[in-house]
Amino acid sequence: KTIEVDIEHATQRFPEASKLSVRYSHPSFMVETLLDNLPEDDVLELLKANNGGRHYYIRANKFKEGHDIMPSIATELGAIIEPDVDISGLYRVTRNIDKIVGSKPFRDGSILIHDKASVLTVHALNLKPGDTVWDSCAAPGQKTQLIAEQVVPGGRVVASERYANRLRIAKERTNLLESVNAEWLHADASKSPVRNVRKILIDAPCSSTGTLNSHPYYKWRLNKQTLLGIMSVQNKILDGIIERFMDRPGTEIVYATCSVLPHEGESQIDSVLNRHKIELLDPGILGSNGYPGFECSKNVRRLFPHKHATSGFFIARFRITD
Ligand SMILES: C[S@@+](CC[C@H](N)C(=O)[O-])C[C@H]1O[C@@H](n2cnc3c(N)ncnc32)[C@H](O)[C@@H]1O
Repeated sequence: KTIEVDIEHATQRFPEASKLSVRYSHPSFMVETLLDNLPEDDVLELLKANNGGRHYYIRANKFKEGHDIMPSIATELGAIIEPDVDISGLYRVTRNIDKIVGSKPFRDGSILIHDKASVLTVHALNLKPGDTVWDSCAAPGQKTQLIAEQVVPGGRVVASERYANRLRIAKERTNLLESVNAEWLHADASKSPVRNVRKILIDAPCSSTGTLNSHPYYKWRLNKQTLLGIMSVQNKILDGIIERFMDRPGTEIVYATCSVLPHEGESQIDSVLNRHKIELLDPGILGSNGYPGFECSKNVRRLFPHKHATSGFFIARFRITD
């Protein structure tokens, strides 16, 4: 039997967080956290954006022939694309993403789907040709690929991944994409298996609450217990890497999570700022400041689906000091 319920009416006497939680189908713990950190209008827009469609961006794989004519190839395939206003070489697909996904240039890795926030995370590393970079939590290797492209000629990327099945798939993908300057390691990042690098990316495992418009079911695997578990892994990786590189002042680290929760962003960075000899650097990328009230707020970046047409991301950049 079907029962019709007027959700607006049924929830009008609920406390604000419960009301938004039911109306926009998000865990109440997440809504409460967002209301604590963002203006109410923003929370509303974010919840709506999470329930809306995903933003698609494409770019050319620079290691493949024909990368310079990628936009005309995509258009010939029937996709409607427009150049991104902020990032050269990145295109927003406004219609017919299916024409790309079903195509040969997509299957053979010539055209890559790459979220703008993920591209900006790599930009925060401020890479130069010749750099050697450790991508510490790397599978499936989307950022590894962009790093590999940005450090040629002469540079390379060492990508590590803890889980063997994810490592295998990432390695296969790297071969397909022909990024010969990327090598893979089966390793736990918190044990710092890599040494001779000046730049490190920690794209940490997280709640993925910044990607709910593409993975709505992530909402329902989140609870306080799982969040605590994820935070502890993030903390171990941050501490392990910073401690291991303490004797290498000048080492630059970008820490990112595709999460909209401060627990996995500002709190983690404030915690390492208070316990280690590090200094925050301007990430040099677009985005909002971090949530207010944290030590790191003004020097870190947040990206949101409703504001920046990206996945939700937190990005911080810091340097080991003497
Ligand atoms: C957010 S994903 C990385 C996405 C990747 N950077 C990309 O752009 O495609 C985090 C990755 O870290 C891996 N991971 C989790 N714990 C780890 C650890 N202790 N050391 C290394 N990798 C870890 C996860 O299995 C997952 O593949």
